[in-house]
Amino acid sequence: MWRRLDVDDYDAVMALRQTVLGSLPDPDFYVREDDERMFVRGHLDLFGESVGYFDGDALVAYLALTTDLVSSAEDIEFASCEPTFSDVVFAAAMVLPEYRGRALHRAGIRHHIAAARAIGALRGMAQISARNHRSLRSYLSEGFRITRAVEYPDGRRRLRSSTPTAGAACCWSAISSGAIGSH
Ligand SMILES: CC(C)(COP(=O)(O)OP(=O)(O)OC[C@H]1O[C@@H](n2cnc3c(N)ncnc32)[C@H](O)[C@@H]1OP(=O)(O)O)[C@@H](O)C(=O)NCCC(=O)NCCS
Repeated sequence: MWRRLDVDDYDAVMALRQTVLGSLPDPDFYVREDDERMFVRGHLDLFGESVGYFDGDALVAYLALTTDLVSSAEDIEFASCEPTFSDVVFAAAMVLPEYRGRALHRAGIRHHIAAARAIGALRGMAQISARNHRSLRSYLSEGFRITRAVEYPDGRRRLRSSTPTAGAACCWSAISSGAIGSH
């Protein structure tokens, strides 16, 4: 069952992140946040929101969406994309290893595309390791398109992708197939 997470889910999210970050097949897939606690807390209701999938009472998958790029400082990270107040960032996605391959990631992305549209966002952005083929495949399947490649001073390479969540000017193939919506 999917549901939006709240502050009471903080410990479950931290535990899920701990498990996933401790078992990455490639450390480049997800670099631990500088401040894990603030990142998680902030994405529960301060500058974003999170959605989780539960198997019984257990949180087994979660995604974080940044809705206030300024408060979260994501506007700096995405500066080259010239972010505006109508942008959101798909900031984190994690699925426990034993639950992978069940399309939970794709379902979570769809939840957040709907959430982004509900608050009037026009563009969703994400930053994905070029080596993270599984994650890339999910985003591309849900209508994201790669807009640029970036390299950080520490050598990390990231592909930027974005998707319109609304707006008449969209001509993305995923829209006509109904994955994002037909605005
Ligand atoms: C990335 C992650 C969230 C994907 O979760 P998931 O629920 O297993 O993903 P899905 O089941 O929705 O599958 C996504 C796509 O990858 C494909 N896929 C499955 N295994 C794959 C593999 N080994 N290599 C490449 N693609 C693969 C699936 O077929 C699916 O594509 P399709 O729907 O077009 O067939 C999960 O692997 C994870 O938590 N990884 C560690 C953290 C991470 O990398 N987060 C993303 C940071 S951007």
